[in-house]
Amino acid sequence: MKKVMFVCLGNICRSPLAHAAFDRIVQREAASPRYSIDSSGTTAYHAGERADPRMRTVAASHDIEINHRAQQLTRGHIEEFDLIVCMDAENKKNALALAKNSEQKEKIVMLRDFDPKGRGDVPDPYYGGENGFVEVVQIAIRSCEVLYKHLEEK
Ligand code: 4NP
Repeated sequence: MKKVMFVCLGNICRSPLAHAAFDRIVQREAASPRYSIDSSGTTAYHAGERADPRMRTVAASHDIEINHRAQQLTRGHIEEFDLIVCMDAENKKNALALAKNSEQKEKIVMLRDFDPKGRGDVPDPYYGGENGFVEVVQIAIRSCEVLYKHLEEK
C-alpha cells in the first residue's frame, strides 16, 4: 500500500483538489487497492468543512469530484504516510516542523516537484478570482500524472 497525503494551508482549496485529481488517476488505472490517499491543512481554520464551493465548481467542470471534509495535518500523519505532498513552500516548512527525524523529513515534497512545466508553489487561489482556481486544476492534473508514474516506477 502506497500512502499519499496532500497538504495546503486550509485544506479547502488546493489539497482537496490535488487529492481528488490523484484519486481519479488511481481509479482510472484500477490501482485503488494499492493506494491510500488523503489531504489535510497545516491549520485547523476550516476543519470539518467541505471544500470551497468555487474549488468544487471548477473541479467539477474538469470532471473531478471533491468529497472531503477539512482536517489538520498531524505528527501521526507524517509518521503514517509515505509521501507528504505540499502545495507551497510555507506548507512544506510547517510540515517539516512536525517531522521528528530525517527519515520523516525526506517524505515531505512539493506537488510541483512533479510538474513538467516547472517547479515552485501552487498559487493560493483563496483571495483571487476564478482564473486562480482554473490554474490550480491544471497544475494538479498534470503534476499528479507525473507523481503517479513516479510512484508506480518506485
Ligand atoms: P487552501 O486555501 O490552503 O488551498 O485550502 C486557503 C484556504 C483558506 C485560507 C487561505 C487559503 N484562509 O485564509 O482561511
